[in-house]
Amino acid sequence: MKYKSLKLIFLLPILMNLISCTEFPSSKNSTNATKETDVKEAFLDSLLNQMTLEEKIGQTVLFSAGWDITGPTLDTNYINYLKAGKLGAIFNVHSAKGTFEFQKIAVENTRLGIPLLFGYDVIHGHKTIFPISLGEAASWDLDLIERSTRVAAEEATASGIHWTFAPMVDIARDPRWGRVSEGAGEDVYLAVKIAQARVKGFQGDDLSKNNTLLACAKHYAAYGAAMAGRDYNSVDMSERELRATYLPPFKAALDAGAATFMTAFNDLNGVPATGDKFLLTDILREEWGFEGFVVTDYTSVMEMTRHGFSKDEKQAGEQAMNAGVDMDMQSGIFLRELNALVAEGKVSESRINQAARAILDMKYRLGLFEDPYRYCDTIREKETHYKAEYLESAKEMARKSMVLLKNDRQVLPLSKSKKIALIGPLAKDDFNIIGSWAAQGDRNGKAISVFEGIQELLGKTADLNYAKGCEIMGTDKSHFSEAIRTAKQADVVVMVLGESENMSGEAASRTDLNLPGVQKELIAEIKKIGKPLVIVLMNGRPLTLEYENSVADALVEAWWPGTMGGAAVADLLFGEYNPSGKLPITFPRNVGQIPIYYNVKNTGRPYEKDGPEQRFRSRYIDVDNSPLFPFGYGLSYTSFEYSDLSIDKPTLNFEEELKIEVTVKNTGNQDGEEIVQLYVQDLFGSVTRPLRELKRFEKIFLKSGESKVVSFTLSSEDLAFYTLDMSFKAEAGDFKIYVGTNSQAVLEKHFVLN
Ligand code: NOJ
Repeated sequence: MKYKSLKLIFLLPILMNLISCTEFPSSKNSTNATKETDVKEAFLDSLLNQMTLEEKIGQTVLFSAGWDITGPTLDTNYINYLKAGKLGAIFNVHSAKGTFEFQKIAVENTRLGIPLLFGYDVIHGHKTIFPISLGEAASWDLDLIERSTRVAAEEATASGIHWTFAPMVDIARDPRWGRVSEGAGEDVYLAVKIAQARVKGFQGDDLSKNNTLLACAKHYAAYGAAMAGRDYNSVDMSERELRATYLPPFKAALDAGAATFMTAFNDLNGVPATGDKFLLTDILREEWGFEGFVVTDYTSVMEMTRHGFSKDEKQAGEQAMNAGVDMDMQSGIFLRELNALVAEGKVSESRINQAARAILDMKYRLGLFEDPYRYCDTIREKETHYKAEYLESAKEMARKSMVLLKNDRQVLPLSKSKKIALIGPLAKDDFNIIGSWAAQGDRNGKAISVFEGIQELLGKTADLNYAKGCEIMGTDKSHFSEAIRTAKQADVVVMVLGESENMSGEAASRTDLNLPGVQKELIAEIKKIGKPLVIVLMNGRPLTLEYENSVADALVEAWWPGTMGGAAVADLLFGEYNPSGKLPITFPRNVGQIPIYYNVKNTGRPYEKDGPEQRFRSRYIDVDNSPLFPFGYGLSYTSFEYSDLSIDKPTLNFEEELKIEVTVKNTGNQDGEEIVQLYVQDLFGSVTRPLRELKRFEKIFLKSGESKVVSFTLSSEDLAFYTLDMSFKAEAGDFKIYVGTNSQAVLEKHFVLN
């Protein structure tokens, strides 16, 4: 059923009147665009003029309907606020029917009939679940990442959702922090590219279409740098580091058109992000020109009292609104306090107007004033969810997201005729496999487990024997013996191990990044049998895998691969797909090395593994400085050789471009994809510079024996950084370029910028 707009008593006449005074020829040009903007502005002016202060404040209020629980508090009075015209948006309600029912109240039972905005955490899919965001990032495939968010938008909008709380663009370099799973990893350049792809996918090219969602760049800012990886913890960092590392993905999201921003929970240099005028107004609006609206994270206005930044809720409301927050998620403080704050002159009415207008503007752009029910179509909903082509894309993404970490003696791919023992708590799992923040993705019964994926690929007669062995958590070893028996009868053992979906994500920080429970002990028992051992990992963050790496013949990082995850794992194990994923985040050897990431600085006493006397050097005495697996790392079933790195000039001026070429050859006997990575090192600067920084990458496909020349260009803009006086520019001097298969690339060239 397609729900029709019933009435917008006060608004429709204004809208119709404005539209009838304006001609919209079919071909768009700048004059028409200006006219459309004029119509919109006139509409918003007229609407705001009719609104009482309370109604305007109402637009700044967002409550959860509680269909999903994504935070600690619920205010079940939200229906009353809605009826009183004191609620602008609702989240955690989904389905065409559900959103219709709420919308009907807003449209028919409130004085002005202003439609609601429906928000939801659509992070890595809505029904068809793609790999977790960190997994998607491992594909380095920007088109496919955009496609993934497009599919999510198609499905979510069909369920009445107008606004997703994504993409999460926080740089994350501490795998103790569970939310590394939600972002694009540790690197600025890769994260910038992915942020843009995700915003484009969600928002499409025209917000007025009913299959587009407002994107929300979150969590602004520096949330990923939570001290010691403990969620919600404080962050203290220099403005240089903030601007160089943590802000660029936000700016990129904005440049790609991100309609909204969400504040972070943390305090940054002593100021909670939700009350930080420097972040929300000085940088976001004034420096970057953001014109959308800013929503807080869940109850974070209220939490400013706990931070010890606001003496009471009223002051928190004042500080948040005056800092630049437009919408209060779940605290109810704007609802309760803004009226009085305006009366007392602590918050200006013009600031409220600005906030309400930014929100109404988005409702207008989505077309909700024309038809508030345009996202509430139950037939479309049914037809859209789990479309075959979406499942296909999810499988494609899952295959491309997996990273082959080890493959000794080419134990992978497996021969289809081998007798296989499939062991481990995640081997037959169709619950955890879709990961955390899986929106409306169905778990049991819909997602394809590894067992099912293999069975499907090999046929029901396959020689596949399963034993769970143990649970993900807990100490029970009573099923070890069955697993051992199963392994003994097989030619090869595939173990599927990892975390449960709630071990990564929000409020899921860990201090121990080993496989949980008795999984390691199970590996030890199976290893004793002496069969070739393949370990497939499903988890939301880098784990410490020294032991697994030492005993397994092959190691595959599958992340939580989503609805089609098991099918993708099967394809990879049996060579239907040749792995191409590369790590978007460093895997440490142990927790003591954290934070560990590739683009560190040199220190005054760098450790040189093979150098003379290394005692007074920057190193650990009990473990190597190097990670277990570096950023950008990932193997293939084939091999690639890099040669002939060249640059077209030894010296470059600030207006010129540098052309770089490298030859990559597939020297193995299988076709495959390689992600060619280019890093730059600025040897000296007015401030110390990282040892290398990713500046370009290209994913190429090479047939066995084929070679290709890959070209990149760089300009002085790519060499810019925040100099001693905090201007963003390149400095003349010496640079090195490294090109290769991961962040430890060895081919290098030197050039001078002058
Ligand atoms: C809290 C999380 O930090 C945020 O990412 C999410 O969007 C909101 N809850 C809403 O569920």
